[in-house]
Amino acid sequence: MGSKRLKEVDPQVAEAIRLETERLQVNLELIASENFVSEAVMEAMSCVMTNKYAEGYPGRRYYGGCQFVDIAEELAIERAKQLFGADVVNVQPHSGSQANMAVYSALLEHGDTILGMNLSHGGHLTHGSPVNFSGMYYKMVFYGVNKDTEVVDMDEVMELAKRHNPKLIIVGASAYPRNFDYSAFRKVADEVGAVVVADIAHPAGLISAGVHPSPVPHSEIVTSTTHKTLRGPRGGIIMCNEDYGKIINKMVFPGMQGGPLMHIIAAKAVAFQEALTEEFREYAAQIVKNAKALAASLQRNGYRLVSGGTDKHMMLLDLRETKITGKDAEEALDEAGITVNKNVIPFEARSPFVTSGIRIGTPAVTTRGMKEPEMETIGDLIARVLNDIDRDDVKTSVGDDVRSLTAKFPIYQETMRRIS
Ligand SMILES: Cc1ncc(COP(=O)(O)O)c(C=O)c1O
Repeated sequence: MGSKRLKEVDPQVAEAIRLETERLQVNLELIASENFVSEAVMEAMSCVMTNKYAEGYPGRRYYGGCQFVDIAEELAIERAKQLFGADVVNVQPHSGSQANMAVYSALLEHGDTILGMNLSHGGHLTHGSPVNFSGMYYKMVFYGVNKDTEVVDMDEVMELAKRHNPKLIIVGASAYPRNFDYSAFRKVADEVGAVVVADIAHPAGLISAGVHPSPVPHSEIVTSTTHKTLRGPRGGIIMCNEDYGKIINKMVFPGMQGGPLMHIIAAKAVAFQEALTEEFREYAAQIVKNAKALAASLQRNGYRLVSGGTDKHMMLLDLRETKITGKDAEEALDEAGITVNKNVIPFEARSPFVTSGIRIGTPAVTTRGMKEPEMETIGDLIARVLNDIDRDDVKTSVGDDVRSLTAKFPIYQETMRRIS
C-alpha cells in the first residue's frame, strides 16, 4: 500500500472534489436539507474507523478489536441523549430513510395502517410514497394542510385517525415551513391507541438547541437524519423510550443492517459535541432569524410564501401567480450561482418534475456566518433573477453579486489548501 495523495492516485476524482469544494465556496447554497460540516467532522469521517467491522453494539460485538470504535459509539450515544433528552439512542442507521424503515419494521406488520403527511403538502418519501417501501408495504392514510391557512389541520388529523385506526402516526416533513403541534398529535394517537413517531430529520439541530419545540416528551419514537440542521455527517439516528429500546436496536442490527459505519459514527459523536455548545445554540437561533429575514425580503419583493412565512429554517415560494415553474426558477437561479430546489406546493397542479414552487433554506448560509442583512440581499438577488427570468444579462450580473457576497464569507479554506 502506497502513501500517495488522492490527486496522484486518481486525478479525475480529485479534480471533481476540488471543483465541488470551489462550487460550495462561490455559490449561495440554499437547499434546506444541506449544510456544511466542520473540518473536525470531516476529519473524523475520513478516519481509519472506516476499516472496522463492528456488527453489534458497544461491549457486545461480533468482532474482535472493537475497544476503540466502542469509545466513539458510546460517546455518540451519550451526547445524543444529552442533546435531545432521550432514554435510548441508536446511532447506527446509515440514513434517515433506513431509520424510518427500521422503526416501521419493528412496530408494524406489512399491511398495517400508517397516518402520515401528504407528500405534496410537505411529507417525505418514507412517509408513504407509492414508489417507496413505505407505500409498498403499508396502508397509508394522509393528513395535509388546510387550503386557506396552509397549516396542518388537526381536526382533519383526528377525524382521519378515528376513521382509519392507524397503528402508527408519523409526524414530520421535508417541506413544511411551520412547527408541528406534537402535543396535539399525542392526543390524537391516544384517542385511537396509535404510536407517535416524530421524524425530525429537518429541524433536529433547531430542536437540540431549544429554538423549536421538542417532540421527545410527546412521542414514543423519534427518527432523524444527522446532516441537515444538526450539521453532522450524512446519516440517521433513532431515539426512543425504554419500552421500545430492545425492539428498535434489534431491528437496526441484525434486522436491517450489517456492519455499522464506524467512521461516520465517530463523526456523529463530533457533531453532537459541537451541537452541545453555546456557539451551536446561537447558530441554530440565527438559522431561524435568517429564515424569517429572507422570507420578509422575498415578500417585500412581491413573492408569496406558502402559509405566509416560516417558523424554522426553510420556506416555500409559491410561484403560481407568476408564469414561472419551479423547474424554470431552479435552473435560472442555478445559472446565477444560487442553489435551490424545485418543490411541489400544497394543492399542486404540476408534476413533481416541474412544480409550482421552490424550497429555500438558511442552514448552510448561516454556517458561513451570514446574518439578517445578507438575507435581505439574497431575497433581492432571487427576485432580480425571477423578475426577469429570460434575461441572461440579469443572471450574469446577479452571478457577479453572488460571488462578491460569498467571497466575504469563506468556507473550507483549510480543505481547499489541502486539496489544491
Ligand atoms: C423528513 C425526512 N425524513 C427522512 C429523510 C431521509 O433521509 P436520508 O436522505 O438520509 O435517507 C429526509 C431527507 O430528506 C427527510 O426530509
